[in-house]
Amino acid sequence: PYPLYESLRGISPIYKGSMLKQPGWFVTGYKEAALILKEPSFFTRIPLPRSTEKYGHLKRAQSKMMLYMNNHDHRKLRLLVNKGFTPKQVEEFKPLIEKITHSLLDELIVKKEFDVVSEFAFPLTSLVIATILGVPEEDRKRFRVWASALLQSIDFSRSHKTLEESDRLIGELNDYFTLVIDKKRKKPCNDLISKLIKEEDKITNEELIATSILLVIAGHETTVNLISNTVLAFAKHPAQWELLKSDSSLVAPSIEEVLRYESPTQLTARVAMKDTEIAGHQLTSGDQIYLMLGAANRDPEVFEKPNEFIISRKSIPHLSFGMGAHFCLGSTLARLEAQAALAALLQRLNTYELVSNQIKWRKLMGFRSLEQLRIKTFN
Ligand code: HEM
Repeated sequence: PYPLYESLRGISPIYKGSMLKQPGWFVTGYKEAALILKEPSFFTRIPLPRSTEKYGHLKRAQSKMMLYMNNHDHRKLRLLVNKGFTPKQVEEFKPLIEKITHSLLDELIVKKEFDVVSEFAFPLTSLVIATILGVPEEDRKRFRVWASALLQSIDFSRSHKTLEESDRLIGELNDYFTLVIDKKRKKPCNDLISKLIKEEDKITNEELIATSILLVIAGHETTVNLISNTVLAFAKHPAQWELLKSDSSLVAPSIEEVLRYESPTQLTARVAMKDTEIAGHQLTSGDQIYLMLGAANRDPEVFEKPNEFIISRKSIPHLSFGMGAHFCLGSTLARLEAQAALAALLQRLNTYELVSNQIKWRKLMGFRSLEQLRIKTFN
């Protein structure tokens, strides 16, 4: 997508046009994207994904996800759920994340060749999110199917067929969490869902179901993509891998550089709620705005040599987790998982190579997501 972003930015950092049959404002400039993200939600809101008529009732369920809420309702719900994602809370998951990472690598390294996406990143992130939510072990495999299909569904390239399929899956998740929450009401444990149930004067049952679904969608595959994109970036830049090997304090900055260079979320959207001027352009109520985070992250006005992967950059103020009121709730957790994965790979592998140079990206507009990534390891 990067040459396309560059040519759009060349015309205008905020360009009015149409892509994939979606008319709207396409924002590729960093300054402009940051300005709109920070805009008080009075002017813009995040558009709800389309749903098919057959599943129209799901629209109401989805509208209870904090991502689609604004102002007071949004703040109230976010503050509550955030209790499960504070740095202190997330730090408690560190031993678990490290244990899972190493036990996965114990098996994979013996095999000498494996798929990073399905055999490493997916089992790691699904186990973590399932543990946080407190869903039974035997259900965790289903999470993967749901998460993967849902990414397709919220993408802007979706067709009617994928739309119907995704509605069906959201319906399934809705039924699933209704049952889980019901059981936890009778027998609470020490997980996030049980803790939220205790706050029932502050959160409705509908909000609780919607939050659980949102956490599966928002918190799962994006992290898989961050981990896989990290492994790919280093495979393609062996000198950076050597640099990292010589200085392990570069693990955290490396993850920031991957977030910038191959941002898992490439695009997010807004709808103007009133006629307003944004970044010097006159927007009309109802206009769609596409914020191309992957493009903003390569804006030469902010990043020197933007198309190069350089882990020793002095500052990496990427927009990959968004900005403002809807700034990613799970950023601390995502960073911790990706850093743990990279640190473990660094410790356990001397070098690795891609099995094939043919990289297959999923055909999504909003996400930078690998179909698979097979590597050969050398110890
Ligand atoms: C919001 C990206 C991981 C939960 C967002 C937004 C972005 C984003 C760009 C803002 C959307 C907007 O303003 O339009 C990412 C990336 C991740 C990641 C790139 C991984 C590398 C996670 C994880 C969780 C999570 C691990 C939780 C377990 C959320 C939630 C929101 C959100 C709940 C909505 C916040 C709100 O509406 O206030 N994420 N995310 N994300 N993310 Fe993440």
